[in-house]
Amino acid sequence: MLLKIVQTGDPVLRTPARPLSTEDIASAEVQRLIELMRETMRDAPGVGLAAPQIGLPLQLAVIEDVGEVEATDRRPVPFHVIINPQITLGDERVDFFEGCLSVDGYQAVVPRARTARVAARDHRGEAINIDASGWYARILQHEIDHLNGTLYIDRMRTRTFGTSRNVARYVPGIPIADLLAGLGEKD
Ligand code: NI
Repeated sequence: MLLKIVQTGDPVLRTPARPLSTEDIASAEVQRLIELMRETMRDAPGVGLAAPQIGLPLQLAVIEDVGEVEATDRRPVPFHVIINPQITLGDERVDFFEGCLSVDGYQAVVPRARTARVAARDHRGEAINIDASGWYARILQHEIDHLNGTLYIDRMRTRTFGTSRNVARYVPGIPIADLLAGLGEKD
């Protein structure tokens, strides 16, 4: 069964999500929700899905990235769950395109920290610590933003915002720095 992914403009995407208790995490409802979110993310397809995106203001997100792209700092990330995450960002920033299943059909360049450290609970409620870099660090920042009512469009370089089709058409082969300069985006 697939869950409906809500689109930008739905107030739930702007609502800070509530933490889950240990009992919540162990409940059949939350365990079933995790399964349905995994199925929905894979079907979309996406590399992450946060509970507010399926209409529930809960501090829970699923992540999985089967992709691997040479030279873009992207490596496969196995399926996992983050609950009640706290994130600490590294100092270095990296510009890259990203999109969101709740802003369907568009992409933009978003500056993100190159590295991030996340303390969270996993699907069993156990404490986990994640040290991420590159694309995985970007996914974590994007999903944890969702839990705080923030979308990438709040952080994007606005002049790079475009349809996914146009990004695929005009962007490949152009270094991000040149693209930003060409669009009049300042550093
Ligand atoms: Ni998103």
